[in-house]
Amino acid sequence: MTPEPNPRILLAPMEGVIDHTMRELLTQLGAVDRCVTEFVRVSQELLPPRVFHRICPELASGGRTSSGVPVYLQILGGDANLVAENSARAAELGAPGIDLNFGCPAKTVNRSDGGSIILREPERVHRIVTATRQALPPTVPLSVKIRLGFDSSDRFLDIVSGIDAARPSELVIHARTRADGYRPPAYWEHIALARSKTQLPLVANGEIWGVGDAKLAREKSGTRDLMLGRGVLCRPDLPRLVRAFDSGEEIDALTWDEIRAYLLQYLAITLKTYDARYAVNPIKQWLGYLRHYYPQAAAMFVVIKRILDPEQLRIAIAGHEDPGQKAA
Ligand SMILES: Cc1cc2nc3c(=O)[nH]c(=O)nc-3n(C[C@H](O)[C@H](O)[C@H](O)COP(=O)(O)O)c2cc1C
Repeated sequence: MTPEPNPRILLAPMEGVIDHTMRELLTQLGAVDRCVTEFVRVSQELLPPRVFHRICPELASGGRTSSGVPVYLQILGGDANLVAENSARAAELGAPGIDLNFGCPAKTVNRSDGGSIILREPERVHRIVTATRQALPPTVPLSVKIRLGFDSSDRFLDIVSGIDAARPSELVIHARTRADGYRPPAYWEHIALARSKTQLPLVANGEIWGVGDAKLAREKSGTRDLMLGRGVLCRPDLPRLVRAFDSGEEIDALTWDEIRAYLLQYLAITLKTYDARYAVNPIKQWLGYLRHYYPQAAAMFVVIKRILDPEQLRIAIAGHEDPGQKAA
């Protein structure tokens, strides 16, 4: 009997938070099988290559981070032809896969006919995925990411059936409606219901903050593959911890001192990309997530919040030693 492949662990797309600098860092930490870019919003035209390169600088290196992890290019839009032709362009430019966004809850995005609002029309979701699949070379995978619905999950199974009929490569389900926003819980059991309508690979997403959540999400959703978002920003070794759990290994969680080393590494990465005036901002943003798991991050934030100079920030991070305690 062939052994089952390892469950996959995907890094969730997060607009304004997980850009290529964060992807670079998080994939260096290991156990991430794939990333997704921030979204390319298509509403009027076939976009020029520079837009795709800006959102996905990894295109210059085969669409992979320097750790070799593939980065799918995320497209958001409500017009089937435009989404399809822009997806085809991304593939021509070397994207290793395309991800279609039907989950974004932002009012500005929904008002301009993109993201979760399209879930109100399962037939249109079907048309967009079908057109995109047809426009892409068969070798380029197409993933689709949805929520359970817009106002309610009443049409969830219609959405899944429509996507199934369009034959993408897989379906990622953020187990909440748009109306649920980001409020817990995630309704992982709905993902199991999708199984009645499709044999596509399913990926469970939402509210996975630790190994225990990963286990429960798998049990309730009936799918082993997971997409992790905010949890990875709070605990950057979450993918590694889940992978270790899968293989029965025991590994220690990262200590605050190890996190500090990653903060310094991240600062070095952002300095290569952003003007020095802005390179400090992503660090501050990341601390906002880290403090949910590492109380030391909240204390560090108080110390560094007014620092604008990257060198001063580096010194402050380097000096912010842990008095000896591991994260709680
Ligand atoms: C700040 C932020 C930005 C996000 N941007 C995107 C996006 O561009 N595309 C998308 O499909 N989902 C986006 N999401 C949703 C996440 O990919 C994910 O589905 C959601 O956060 C639930 O997973 P989690 O509980 O593991 O974070 C975003 C979420 C957050 C918090």
